[in-house]
Amino acid sequence: MNTSIAFIGGGNMARSLIGGLIAQGRPPASIRVAEPVPPLREALQRDFGVAVFEHAEEAVTGADTWVFAVKPQVMRPVCEGLASAAQSGKPLVISIAAGITATQLERWLGGRLPVVRTMPNTPALLGAGVTGLFATAAVDAAGKQLTETLLSAAGKTVWIADEAQMDAVTAVSGSGPAYVFLLAEAMIHAGVQEGLSEPAARTLALQTVLGAARMLTESNVDAAELRRRVTSPNGTTQAAIETFEAGGFRSLVDEAIHAARVRGVELSAAND
Ligand SMILES: NC(=O)c1ccc[n+]([C@@H]2O[C@H](COP(=O)([O-])OP(=O)(O)OC[C@H]3O[C@@H](n4cnc5c(N)ncnc54)[C@H](OP(=O)(O)O)[C@@H]3O)[C@@H](O)[C@H]2O)c1
Repeated sequence: MNTSIAFIGGGNMARSLIGGLIAQGRPPASIRVAEPVPPLREALQRDFGVAVFEHAEEAVTGADTWVFAVKPQVMRPVCEGLASAAQSGKPLVISIAAGITATQLERWLGGRLPVVRTMPNTPALLGAGVTGLFATAAVDAAGKQLTETLLSAAGKTVWIADEAQMDAVTAVSGSGPAYVFLLAEAMIHAGVQEGLSEPAARTLALQTVLGAARMLTESNVDAAELRRRVTSPNGTTQAAIETFEAGGFRSLVDEAIHAARVRGVELSAAND
């Protein structure tokens, strides 16, 4: 049985996923990567021992799983160039490109293919990401398992049943790291306003974000309860939380995530 995986695009995300597969014990010779940029291609071969190719058509030869890891803007011509190979090989297609729908991918590749569309986020590059996954009806249990194994190198995975929810995934976790970065920026700024040096405010704010994120993910206690536990009656935290609530913090977050989802729908439509 042939179980080669072809990566079309050998950039940052592909590199993370390939590193994860090798760490999980997959033989490097079963990974084939198309990457047009010579230094990137050579580095992948040197670092992981995978088979590398300049052109996508060479990399997909004989591979029964194809992972598309190119920028969304070039996805259509790249898929169309591989349509005849896809129709003869009928691979499992996995895409990590933001905003490109499973229907678009399937159509650009000539139709009637199992497709998994995934939406990772930037912490994936540290193995601390989260990826939303959507499989079309043609994907079998083994295809889903393979996709989960692949994306687990990037962090956690969440299956969604309805592809329309992918824009909400993008709005929560895809764009989400930037919301936390904004909060960190604002906390540093406020610390300086309250008299701290910039380096002191930065260390205090950044380590607080890290520590809070670890408590959220490692303690099995939900966010509201963790917040209640550190909010003593009439204390300093309560003063801050009441100020956030009075300023409409929750509805502002709702509006921001809604705006991101609406923009995701518009951008997907523009790809057609
Ligand atoms: N980085 C993230 O954190 C992240 C998070 C979520 C989703 N994603 C998605 O992941 C995808 C890849 O992102 P990335 O950050 O890995 O991008 P990247 O570093 O730019 O990697 C893409 C690579 O594919 C190459 N490429 C372009 N056309 C090709 C072709 N015809 N055949 C083979 N390779 C080709 C590009 O070469 P050139 O530079 O010459 O074009 C580039 O080296 C994107 O669709 C993005 O939406 C990334």
